[in-house]
Amino acid sequence: MSKNFYHYPVWVRLWHVMNAILCLFLIVTGFSMLYSNPDNGLVVGFKRAVSIHNVSGILLTVSYTLFLFGNLFTSNGRHYLLAMKGAGKRLWQQGYYYVYGYFKGQKAPYPVDGEHKFNPLQQVSYVGVMYLILPMLFVTGWAMMFPEFILKKFLRFSGIFLTDQFHVILGFLVVIFLFIHLYVSTMGKSPLSNFRSIITGWQESH
Ligand code: HEM
Repeated sequence: MSKNFYHYPVWVRLWHVMNAILCLFLIVTGFSMLYSNPDNGLVVGFKRAVSIHNVSGILLTVSYTLFLFGNLFTSNGRHYLLAMKGAGKRLWQQGYYYVYGYFKGQKAPYPVDGEHKFNPLQQVSYVGVMYLILPMLFVTGWAMMFPEFILKKFLRFSGIFLTDQFHVILGFLVVIFLFIHLYVSTMGKSPLSNFRSIITGWQESH
């Protein structure tokens, strides 16, 4: 019998929708700047893409700060605490389920319950994107808005060039995360059930 758990409080849902919209703006304008030049815009004119990208980046930093405080001061943060012991085995079991067991109709090895809203792979990918990739994106993004703080030269390369390259690679990692995130989100109790959870707050177990 399936049970429902209230796993996504209002603040998480509001943060998530802000985060998703701003990331989409950043991705579209980021690609637009990367594959165009000041005289020849791609999706939007180059100058407008820069302005939208900067404003979205600033707003994303603000919403990210709210997420950090939320995780620090509410019980949502416990879902982001990685347990190292046995992690390899748990990740393997979940990966095997995603590529094989799910399609054979097997039971999920780590079903949702009152204590657990993320399976081991979701947990690692959310910790990776929220506590590693996004902070580095913010640091490199803000540095490029205030380039006077960037080292002029590092190992014979221009500091701005290196910061920019690093920023672009991190941006691509977020795009890859997003594709996987959307695909894996369809592998809940039904293809739409996880999408319903992030809107209503209630998550169905398998
Ligand atoms: C169109 C964009 C997006 C959609 C439709 C979407 C969809 C979802 C869904 C269905 C869930 C609930 C299922 C689950 O917990 O796995 C979720 C949770 C989550 N998503 Fe997304 N997502 C989007 C963009 C993003 C982006 C850009 C990020 C980060 C860069 C992100 C990070 C997260 C995190 C960290 C959670 C768990 C939040 C928590 O409960 O603490 N999502 N998303």
